[in-house]
Amino acid sequence: MITSVKEILTKAKEGSYAVGAFNTVNLETTRAIVAAAKEMRSPVIIQVTEKTMEYAGGRGIFHLIKNDAEFYAAEIPIGIHLDHGKSLEIIQRAVAIGFTSVMYDGSRKVFADNLEITKKVVEFCHESGVDVQGELGSVPYLGEAQMGDIDWDKYMTDPVQAKVFVEETGIDALAVAIGNAHGFLKERAQPDFDRMAMINKNCALPFVLHGASDWENGKVVEAIKNGVSCFNVDTAIRIAFVNNLINSVSGQGELGFDLRKLLGGAQDAVKETVKYKMKIFGSDGKV
Ligand code: G3H
Ligand code: 13P
Ligand code: ZN
Repeated sequence: MITSVKEILTKAKEGSYAVGAFNTVNLETTRAIVAAAKEMRSPVIIQVTEKTMEYAGGRGIFHLIKNDAEFYAAEIPIGIHLDHGKSLEIIQRAVAIGFTSVMYDGSRKVFADNLEITKKVVEFCHESGVDVQGELGSVPYLGEAQMGDIDWDKYMTDPVQAKVFVEETGIDALAVAIGNAHGFLKERAQPDFDRMAMINKNCALPFVLHGASDWENGKVVEAIKNGVSCFNVDTAIRIAFVNNLINSVSGQGELGFDLRKLLGGAQDAVKETVKYKMKIFGSDGKV
């Protein structure tokens, strides 16, 4: 059942658990996420980026998700979300297609510009009943080699600015930077949970943690305690997909050249990863 992302996140915050927002790029990943949600009785958010809209076609991927959600898991709350929209144009396009939740990512802009554009996005989206996630501070995209020299302070969300940002923009969810980073990294800073606690004290809305693919149970539990209601997961499911595919393709050829068998195995591997994440986020059994 297609459900508003705001509703899914608000329930998670009230219930002290988190939901996964999983990135999809194709039929197999979408079907794996929907099947995992159904099996785990878990609410879920399925999201696509601008690059995926270019790859799969925005309308095509949106209707694929919507169809699978309605047809295979009618009783499960499923939100469809645009991840990392970086311009008003892409947000307008997503809303025209039917997305009911978008992220405006102005995290690389100076505070005043991020605030001003996010506010415009909210005005535009709320008129059409569309939820908006903003980002303050910035969640880095880093290669492992760079990790040694990173100055985390310049990425972190400022709890005082967060209060102003949330109040003035009217966003529905806030992506925060507390030491999290996109991608799988060998080394990373311990998350700044004191900062997370201050952000949570200053702002009443649900928080989203990007770069959550490699967050294990302990850190997940601590983040939820401090108000995080959503973890974004992309890298972990891409790795599960690709590793399975490599094994199938380099196997003894028993799957032949049947793409449905080759990709079906990758789909199952993604489903298992999503189920595992739902368990550690505590969203299993919430439907
Ligand atoms: O943060 C989001 C994704 O991990 C980046 O994915 O390559 O589709 O932009 P993308
Ligand atoms: P990961 O790279 O850790 O999967 O993060 C995904 C993400 O934040 C998507 O917005
Ligand atoms: Zn992200």
